[in-house]
Amino acid sequence: MTFFKSKVVLITGSGGGLGRYLAGAYLEAGAQVVLCDIHEEKLKAAEEGLSGKGPVFAQKVDVADEESVKGLFKATVNKFGRIDVVVNNAAIFDALAPVGKTDKVLWDRVISVNLTGNFVVSKEAVNQFLAQEPQGGNIVNIGSIAGTKGYFAGITYTASKHALRGMTMNIASYYGKKGIRCNLVQPGGMDTELYKELEGNMEAEGLILLGGNCPALKDGSIMVPLDKMSSLIMFLSSDSASSLNGQILNADNGMVSSA
Ligand SMILES: NC(=O)c1ccc[n+]([C@@H]2O[C@H](COP(=O)([O-])OP(=O)(O)OC[C@H]3O[C@@H](n4cnc5c(N)ncnc54)[C@H](O)[C@@H]3O)[C@@H](O)[C@H]2O)c1
Repeated sequence: MTFFKSKVVLITGSGGGLGRYLAGAYLEAGAQVVLCDIHEEKLKAAEEGLSGKGPVFAQKVDVADEESVKGLFKATVNKFGRIDVVVNNAAIFDALAPVGKTDKVLWDRVISVNLTGNFVVSKEAVNQFLAQEPQGGNIVNIGSIAGTKGYFAGITYTASKHALRGMTMNIASYYGKKGIRCNLVQPGGMDTELYKELEGNMEAEGLILLGGNCPALKDGSIMVPLDKMSSLIMFLSSDSASSLNGQILNADNGMVSSA
């Protein structure tokens, strides 16, 4: 598979489960890949693990910090000359906290990473896509089925992922005619670290709501393997999907539509 030959692909949160796997898949398809993550050790491990597969550039970034993101884009263009694909993948979870139990500090942090981070990265991405020759590029946002329903997460993660739907359609509307596409993938479940460090601290009320509304979570049928998720994201960012813009795809084995 070489259909990303020489393309430059930047993936946020690529020290983590999906981001790291996806980076490896793009490298195998011939891309040059930019890894970035706030977590230095995870980033280093991803860089070491992936550099044998192809050209990799890694830089620590906090997607919530505009200066940090600007530095990343500048360094990427210095290194590779352009950017073709940006995957907005970095996110944090909210431990299923409902509005009445959500500290504003938690709200601010989750919104700053999951929503403002997505905005800041998208802003740098479209301006780079417009400035380069040939012009254009692709953004794939990673949302969640929590962006479609009300019970898959707490108030903050739910609000942040719902907002990505609007952001995706807005970018597609404004920039589609300028050769820029923006689509949103909403995963069901994936076997990663996202929830693990919060496992013992999840809000009990949220867990009951989740279990009651979504048996697929308990029997595991909502889980999507990382290779399947990566193929979908790569397809959306490829020329084969050139007619898809502003699309919102639930990658959940059909669970939300049948619930
Ligand atoms: N795992 C699931 O079941 C699931 C379900 C639905 C949606 N998602 C979404 O999939 C995407 C990938 O998540 P994952 O499951 O691989 O989780 P993960 O925790 O393994 O990876 C997320 C990565 O983002 C990084 N990150 C966090 N804050 C950051 C910041 N401020 N700046 C830069 N990097 C930062 C983390 O260090 C981590 O490496 C996320 O957008 C998540 O919301 C995951």
